[in-house]
Amino acid sequence: MSLEIVRTVADLRAHIGGWRGDGHSVGLVPTMGALHEGHLSLVRQSLDRAARTCVTLFVNPKQFGPNEDLAVYPREEAADAAKLETEGAHLLFAPGIEEMYPDGAATKVSVPGLGGILEGQSRPGFFDGVATVVAKLLIQAQPDIALFGEKDYQQLQVIKRMVADLNIPVHIEGGAIVREADGLALSSRNVYLSPEERAVAPTLNATIKAVAERFAAGEDAAALSAWAVDQLLEAGFGPVDYVTVRDAASLEPLTRHDGTPSRVLAAAKLGRTRLIDNVAV
Ligand code: PAJ
Repeated sequence: MSLEIVRTVADLRAHIGGWRGDGHSVGLVPTMGALHEGHLSLVRQSLDRAARTCVTLFVNPKQFGPNEDLAVYPREEAADAAKLETEGAHLLFAPGIEEMYPDGAATKVSVPGLGGILEGQSRPGFFDGVATVVAKLLIQAQPDIALFGEKDYQQLQVIKRMVADLNIPVHIEGGAIVREADGLALSSRNVYLSPEERAVAPTLNATIKAVAERFAAGEDAAALSAWAVDQLLEAGFGPVDYVTVRDAASLEPLTRHDGTPSRVLAAAKLGRTRLIDNVAV
């Protein structure tokens, strides 16, 4: 079976309805394209877990701030489709703007609390844009499972909250972060890095790994955060938006390790590129 590409909700539903009629389970992998091994690992996970896999490709303008990279965000649909075909994905839903946000579209999904901290603070409106488009995609496709990477750890928690709050009948699954050999998490935005910045970039992962180890060994979270910010600034990052140790589910700040599942999360600029990363404690 080869990859089919559809651009309307009606065609998406016709395909998925056909699969349902044949008794197949359905996995959904939402993306903004420029697919790399991180995305493809989610596609493989979906192919393992469900009989049919639909990938979505939509560069969602509602999750970009006015000074962000919407205009230059990499767009390479033909290459993405070829990769998905090779993986054995069944369907690519690649709608245009008018299909997702027709004239007059007004409804917004907001997840206050979880969506207002960390990334939500650095990028106002970001999680409203993410929650709105993901709610739409889940309602449009009605998959059994939907897969999201731990690379965007807070996004995964926001989506789990939204799905629970709105009783959307889907199981949300996380996928492990795929990294370069030197630790840098794969990201569509890594293409913005100059060779000099690319050489510095793995310091982000190395630093939060050290924070996780030292926090587990009993050191104080605030002191570790301050240390990590200094490390990053010294390496050439700046500004550093946050390096913080949080409860792994609620993302509430922690002070000392007490056995609660926890996560170190960080965001910092390197030149004009903003990088995020996180690791489990
Ligand atoms: P995008 O940045 O394209 O990422 C699509 C999915 O791939 C997300 O679930 C993300 O967490 C995952 N991903 C990205 N890099 C990864 C890596 N190195 N390892 C594992 N998974 C990785 O995230 C979005 O798009 C959008 O916000 C979206 C959910 C599609 C809504 O517009």
